[in-house]
Amino acid sequence: MLMELFLNPHDERSMTVQLYEQLRNAITDGRLPTGARLVPTRSVAQDLGVSRSTVTDAYARLTAEGYVEGRRGGGSFVAGSIQPQPREEDAEAALVPTPAAAAIRRYDEVRTTRLYGEDLPTRARFDLTPGRTDPQLFPTTTWRRCMARALWQFPGQYADPAGSSALRLALSRWITQSRGVTTSPEKVVVTNGAGHAVDLVARVLLAPGDVAAVEEPGYPPVTNTLRTHGVTVVGVPVDEQGIVVDAIPPGVKVVYVTPSHQYPLGVVMSRARRLELLRWARRQGAAVLEDDYDSEFRHTPRPLEPLHRLDRDGHVIYVGTFSKILSPGIRLGFAVVPRALLPTVKAVRRAVDWCPPAVTDAALTSFIDEGHLARHLRRARRVYRDRHRAVCRALTLLQIPRVTRLASQAGLHVTVLAPGMPPDDELVARASQRQLLIGSLRPTYQFGDPRPGVVVGFGALATEDVPIAIATLEDCLV
Ligand SMILES: Cc1ncc(COP(=O)(O)O)c(C=O)c1O
Repeated sequence: MLMELFLNPHDERSMTVQLYEQLRNAITDGRLPTGARLVPTRSVAQDLGVSRSTVTDAYARLTAEGYVEGRRGGGSFVAGSIQPQPREEDAEAALVPTPAAAAIRRYDEVRTTRLYGEDLPTRARFDLTPGRTDPQLFPTTTWRRCMARALWQFPGQYADPAGSSALRLALSRWITQSRGVTTSPEKVVVTNGAGHAVDLVARVLLAPGDVAAVEEPGYPPVTNTLRTHGVTVVGVPVDEQGIVVDAIPPGVKVVYVTPSHQYPLGVVMSRARRLELLRWARRQGAAVLEDDYDSEFRHTPRPLEPLHRLDRDGHVIYVGTFSKILSPGIRLGFAVVPRALLPTVKAVRRAVDWCPPAVTDAALTSFIDEGHLARHLRRARRVYRDRHRAVCRALTLLQIPRVTRLASQAGLHVTVLAPGMPPDDELVARASQRQLLIGSLRPTYQFGDPRPGVVVGFGALATEDVPIAIATLEDCLV
């Protein structure tokens, strides 16, 4: 079994002792597991540039002390009798994060790490967490073909920081067609998802100490991203027309909104409010970040014009993502950026992570150009529309007094207000006993006074499981 061995010529211990100690430590802490074959002495001697006897002497000592045993047919193996003791992590407290970074909490902390560790999603029977998509719908065969072809064209160099011109062209055509956002390909910047687009915009438009506004309740990862830049984030309430523009405090330089489908309440921002927000941005010289994260999955016929389309003078940065359309694992999204900002956005992107992954970029280009995206969306829309209907129906039938389902016209989640539901830790514990994953509404209130409720994600829930999953949810709420 391979293991890196290091020899220090200035060490007062002999080469043989150094080798012996490194191998012994690897055996006792389990890095070399019982039964593992040690690399033959000749290869080790060659790799390290030492005489073979230096290595055979080390192996002989390990054998004499019972760490290693020879086997018939040759070779040295870690002895079966060894009980490895995993090594304590050393110097755990040597480095500390900044207070600002340490204050950031994972949005999914309660439902994942605190109760289950990282592998939670694999353990549940029903997954009602928001932000999931249906793995059964993922067009695996087609995507694999596009990826394989992209690998053959793989360039041996860093790509354009804004993404390939072919993908930007495909995206610009597609968003014009499907979302009414007219743009030229030059203004499209391919990102690693919507979150990364927000991060880039923050780097370009905000300095530490600046103030940015988000919706309250809202999408916590964006608040976290902004805070990592030393930005002061304020919450602005949302009413039945969307963000309350009058409540945006003075001095705000960037406001982040989800006008097509407010996260998590589901409100569609009214046209009057859209125009008011744009007037505000013009007056303040501020930017509006329009996150249109899930409008492909509209369950009612009439969409409202995106803010980007109503914007006459370049205050809106429009952000989209493939996290809902295809999968959050694809990590691709995009921003449509006003021309004046483009050189800086590209230079900053170059500085931070060079460019989008070229293979995925090329795969997505053919996926769109060859009509697979349109086909996939037609199918996914049908499935999610039926599932949305089933979830709304099941939630309407809940027998819990005062539980209200909020109106929902788009996307892969429905929000329920549930006054009197248990605290989040208990809710998640109850859910886990029933093999259910759920997302509480409370963490989406980031500026105090959270309303109890549940954001019912149905992306990863099989439609036939909806009634039983929602009945199980009901059990957890009472
Ligand atoms: C409001 C909102 N924006 C964006 C996203 C997706 O972000 P990303 O593209 O970084 O995966 C989500 C995912 O659930 C979301 O709820």
